[in-house]
Amino acid sequence: MKNLSNRIVTINRTPIFFGINCLSSIDRFIGSLNPCGIFILVDENTRTHCLPLLLEHAPLLAHARVMEVVGGEGVKTLENAEKLWSILMAEGAGRYSLLVNLGGGVISDLGGFVAAGYQRGINYINIPTSLMGMADAAIGGKTAVNLSGIKNQVGFFHAAKAVFIFLRFLDTLPKEHLRSGLAEIVKSTIISNPVLWRRLQNYPVSRLLSQPPESAFWQKLILSAVTFKNKVVVKDYRETKFRKVLNFGHTIGHALEGYAQRVGGMPLLHGDAVAAGMISAAYLSHLKTGLAEQEMKSISRYLREGYGTIAVDSSSQAILLELMMHDKKMSGGRLQFTLMSKPGFPVVNVPCDEKEVLKSIEYQCCT
Ligand code: GLY
Repeated sequence: MKNLSNRIVTINRTPIFFGINCLSSIDRFIGSLNPCGIFILVDENTRTHCLPLLLEHAPLLAHARVMEVVGGEGVKTLENAEKLWSILMAEGAGRYSLLVNLGGGVISDLGGFVAAGYQRGINYINIPTSLMGMADAAIGGKTAVNLSGIKNQVGFFHAAKAVFIFLRFLDTLPKEHLRSGLAEIVKSTIISNPVLWRRLQNYPVSRLLSQPPESAFWQKLILSAVTFKNKVVVKDYRETKFRKVLNFGHTIGHALEGYAQRVGGMPLLHGDAVAAGMISAAYLSHLKTGLAEQEMKSISRYLREGYGTIAVDSSSQAILLELMMHDKKMSGGRLQFTLMSKPGFPVVNVPCDEKEVLKSIEYQCCT
């Protein structure tokens, strides 16, 4: 098996340590920051399944103060950030303390937010333990909490000092979370790498999930997503324009997630929502930016096979539109989408009217 470990790409001077041996550098890296007090943010799962592995590789962290929050998107609140700030203060954390975020996207969003706000910004490191975190959330300095049911409404750009992508953490993930994270990788592949996208179509999601994430093709996919994310962030850290390419499938995906939270019941995983959002985005791309029908069908087929569809009845349409209006992707009162003209060629800021959006949601669930 080809081993892509220890590849380092840099993003805004934030090194990304990638691969199956990357944790061997962590002690040296932390030592170079010379932190005055180290804190580790975990949830109950990463405390049990990932922290022992991290401590094995990083004896420097043995005396760190561990702060635990409950898992899940619901923990990303101002109230919980305040609780964590209070712990940092009570424990005497100062400007030169270091926060290590050990977890998925929720932990890096919340921990990054806490680091950005505490004493006007302290250093932090992201050690993503989920595929979604590795491919997307942990990279790029976006930090946030949710407000009044709107995802990531309050946050800062505050870049991590480093990101360590250690693939063995993926072994601790339940299959449905691996599948969910894979949706971000599929997104990244479709919008950035047409050659890899053609290859990926021979690997249905179910086939990929039957292989270990350390296998060569998985490593290739993850590294391609990490490299692309890095490239995007280097080009447009503050999302003035180009970074919006990463939003492919996310406008409708976020609305579906918000809707699922409102109605309760079975939580909808981010990746399932984004997969459905990408089917809609493929439809809109065919309608608005010239994506060939054949490509639209290939994308839809791959995602439907891997993720199914999300049923939306007509009474939910108004709520979905309202949620999209609150999303940060609005401009001048119009809904704006990231679409593409062909795989590898995303197009940002495409205005679509409500009728077109509702049609694309219908296409996602009913065709
Ligand atoms: N997750 C999208 C971004 O980092 O911009």
